[in-house]
Amino acid sequence: MTRVDDFRLHLGRHELVPIVIGGMGVDISTAELALEAARLGGIGHISDAMVHTVSDRRFKTRYVKDKLQQYKYNVANSDKRLVQFNLHQLAEATRLHVGRTMEAKRGPGLIFINCMEKLTMNAARETLRVRLRSALDAGIDGITLSAGLHLNSFGLIADHPRFRDAKLGIIVSSVRALQLFLRKNARHQRLPDYVIVEGPLAGGHLGFGIDDWMRHDLTTIVDEVLAFLRREELAIPVIPAGGIFTGADAVDFLRRGAAAVQVATRFTVTRECGLPDHVKQRYFRAEPEDVEVNALSPTGYPMRMLKDSPGIGAGTRPNCEAYGYLLDNDGRCAYIEAYNREVARHPGVRKVSVKDKTCLCTHMRNFDIWTCGATVWRLKDTSRRLPDGSYQLLTAEHVFRDYQYSRDGAIALPPPEVRDPPSAG
Ligand SMILES: Cc1cc2nc3c(=O)[nH]c(=O)nc-3n(C[C@H](O)[C@H](O)[C@H](O)COP(=O)(O)O)c2cc1C
Repeated sequence: MTRVDDFRLHLGRHELVPIVIGGMGVDISTAELALEAARLGGIGHISDAMVHTVSDRRFKTRYVKDKLQQYKYNVANSDKRLVQFNLHQLAEATRLHVGRTMEAKRGPGLIFINCMEKLTMNAARETLRVRLRSALDAGIDGITLSAGLHLNSFGLIADHPRFRDAKLGIIVSSVRALQLFLRKNARHQRLPDYVIVEGPLAGGHLGFGIDDWMRHDLTTIVDEVLAFLRREELAIPVIPAGGIFTGADAVDFLRRGAAAVQVATRFTVTRECGLPDHVKQRYFRAEPEDVEVNALSPTGYPMRMLKDSPGIGAGTRPNCEAYGYLLDNDGRCAYIEAYNREVARHPGVRKVSVKDKTCLCTHMRNFDIWTCGATVWRLKDTSRRLPDGSYQLLTAEHVFRDYQYSRDGAIALPPPEVRDPPSAG
């Protein structure tokens, strides 16, 4: 009858509750959510996806407006090569987001930042370098490298004073990706402090092919990674992610040799999560048949989402002058190509529909792509239905403690919400 709380994650001198709340981009895993994980003795993630937007919302800065103003003349131009990020502002926004979060940290846990390599930002190397270094400058406890192989990412920060003291980890979906990462980064004489192994049931982008993701399973990949690390005598903590819904699911992995688990979907319906309330309610109501893995993301990675996400087929005009996070080094994005193709096919039509790709920057910013893990349809079993048919939102503390203390796959419901009676008159 083991519970997650019977285990601890050891990262250097830190002894932690082995629960990591995964990064959820564009401020779905908010500072508030990450701070709760840290207060409770685990690890929380913020994300640096679209950090200018996040900073504008949190701190009333004007980064996005200013960038749009600067490049307004280019809005109708399909060539986006000129739309470059100001690296000074990128550093400033990252330091603000990270710095303020770290100042608010209480408790024994840690706060990491999720950095996706696929956010190529029209200058992949230069922008990633600034993102990683600014997060370290601002005191982040650790960086999780995600959405990419990150073969050169250690090189971008190897001369940073915090390169050896900050915790650095990588997300992989296969033992091969891990081997490649270790080989390419060997010259820096520094192993990753942890490896997150993300399986095919996770939310967000998947590190598998669109046709074969369903043939993989997390347990097999975790076992392969553990066996490889044992063979190589590498003591790197392994953290499985994707579809771990109960404390018992987590204990299964901890018993197999995992050092902690990374979870996300169960926290999407907490008060601290950045999704708007109507989207949280949509997640609660989800059924298995509402979920799909599709190729709509311009990154080229498959992505899991609810089929009725408003961003699907929307045909939004590309907003790269304001955002532009997915532009490659030549100023290209698969969505721009799909959009231009539809415009050319439908001359004179004011609003086209684009079925095969989505403007991920615009729709993630607006919370209109409802990405979720495969277990989203089970969320309704984690809360109470209120008299008006909606579901009671949870607190991050409640969900965290449920993972930490539950036994036998049980899921604790929240204490019933006491609503103020309507005032008279
Ligand atoms: C709404 C949502 C957004 C996500 N966004 C990101 C992201 O921006 N970067 C990333 O590396 N992983 C992202 N993920 C994956 C999670 O960090 C996590 O690894 C995974 O979802 C864990 O599986 P679970 O949701 O089944 O618990 C996201 C997951 C969800 C549910």
